[in-house]
Amino acid sequence: MANTQDYVKWFRHSTPYINRHSDKTFVLMLPGEAITHSNFPNIVHDIALLCSLDVRLVLVHGARPQIDERLQIADTYSNFHNNLRITDSESLKLVIQAIGEARTVVEAALSTSLPNSPMHDADMQVISGNFVVAMPYGVIDGVDLQHSGKVRKVQTKSLNAALDSGAVVLLSPVAYSPTGEIFNLTFSDVATHVAGAIKADKLLAFVEGNGVTDSDGNLIRQLSLPECKQYLAEYDEQISFDLKQAISACYLSCLQGVQRAQLISYSTDGALLTELFTRDGLGTMIYSGQYEQLRVATIDDVAGILGLIRPLEEQGILVRRSREILETEINKFHVMDKDGTIVACAALYPYGDMAELSCVATHPDYRNGGRAAALLEQMENQARKQKIKQLFLLTTQTAHWFIEQGFVQGKLEDLPMAKQELYNYQRNSKIFIKQITD
Ligand SMILES: CC(C)(COP(=O)(O)OP(=O)(O)OC[C@H]1O[C@@H](n2cnc3c(N)ncnc32)[C@H](O)[C@@H]1OP(=O)(O)O)[C@@H](O)C(=O)NCCC(=O)NCCS
Repeated sequence: MANTQDYVKWFRHSTPYINRHSDKTFVLMLPGEAITHSNFPNIVHDIALLCSLDVRLVLVHGARPQIDERLQIADTYSNFHNNLRITDSESLKLVIQAIGEARTVVEAALSTSLPNSPMHDADMQVISGNFVVAMPYGVIDGVDLQHSGKVRKVQTKSLNAALDSGAVVLLSPVAYSPTGEIFNLTFSDVATHVAGAIKADKLLAFVEGNGVTDSDGNLIRQLSLPECKQYLAEYDEQISFDLKQAISACYLSCLQGVQRAQLISYSTDGALLTELFTRDGLGTMIYSGQYEQLRVATIDDVAGILGLIRPLEEQGILVRRSREILETEINKFHVMDKDGTIVACAALYPYGDMAELSCVATHPDYRNGGRAAALLEQMENQARKQKIKQLFLLTTQTAHWFIEQGFVQGKLEDLPMAKQELYNYQRNSKIFIKQITD
């Protein structure tokens, strides 16, 4: 970070995200490749930070390269069927060793507490156990997958108790059946089932790149569930098995009730923190159900905005705007779009290095959810980009809300001359001003 001021600003702006993530449950899906990557220590530091911020964490690790290495050393190999390893009794021993070693490496990294490091005093407790019950894949297309298994159920009560204790739960791609047999599972199967069973708030799947890209190589920031399904079908040939596995895990966990799943790079330092604590993020988010989007308004939003503001105009809370004016000034508006419905809006009218904030409104059914505050933050960022130093607004009935957002009462003379000339003395609005740059 360039200087202390940038750091202070970044830290302040992360406050809403810190509040949002606190006490939430995240399942992290860490492939075996990530454990051996040079960025792994940074990922561990970021996991420690999440833990310090009271995020409940389940970490599911993979071990494919570690297993392949063991098999290679033993001069043997696995057969695969439908991309699933066929784990026979002989290779099971090597699989157990490889998974055990990978798990130990992760646990050791999470246990670090060295002075002069981000892990100082982290004192993370790590709990592993038989939280997942396995069953065999059985015989598929005539092929017996032997000790390759899948999740039968998740012991949610004991897993939640471990999380309640403040520990990080570390799960490996190995589990036991009620008959006492050992099964090699895919870590994505474990992560998906666990996320669904404990109703995790997020699944975070680490992948080599930043996320999914379109055919021009541009990162796709968000995919709804139908878009994700379509992407998997359309790009089936072009994307790697690992990426497909991670996208499918995100997709399946969302189908099982997880609200959001994110693909995050394991090779980029800070990708996890950037995704979780900044507005723009670095990865791809896959979301289920309804998702609200803050965006610049377009001409297609005119009807939605009118529907939102007309009742407020009739109550005298907002000044009346004709449809024609709204159409001409639509590029001044930002809206919050919830699956095609405009639930909140605000407009910004620049006057030199000042700008008027206007038409701030949230639909009555969607109030008290922080939407107007989020819109205001967006407008402030927008204004800063336009080199605007102060926001002002005129209000008759909402003074206290704006005071709570950092506005202070001003005088008519504080307004730009052009605005002073338009002041409606009969309406007698109060004037509020907010300094948005130093
Ligand atoms: C003011 C308004 C935009 C807030 O929208 P929102 O999305 O509910 O805003 P937030 O969730 O960020 O804030 C909600 C908080 O503001 C408070 N609030 C709402 N209206 C308020 C008002 N007129 N005066 C003081 N506080 C108010 C709520 O009680 C809530 O407080 P709480 O968190 O302590 O319970 C919304 O109530 C609205 O559309 N009001 C009518 C239009 C309006 O007055 N616009 C301003 C025109 S100048």
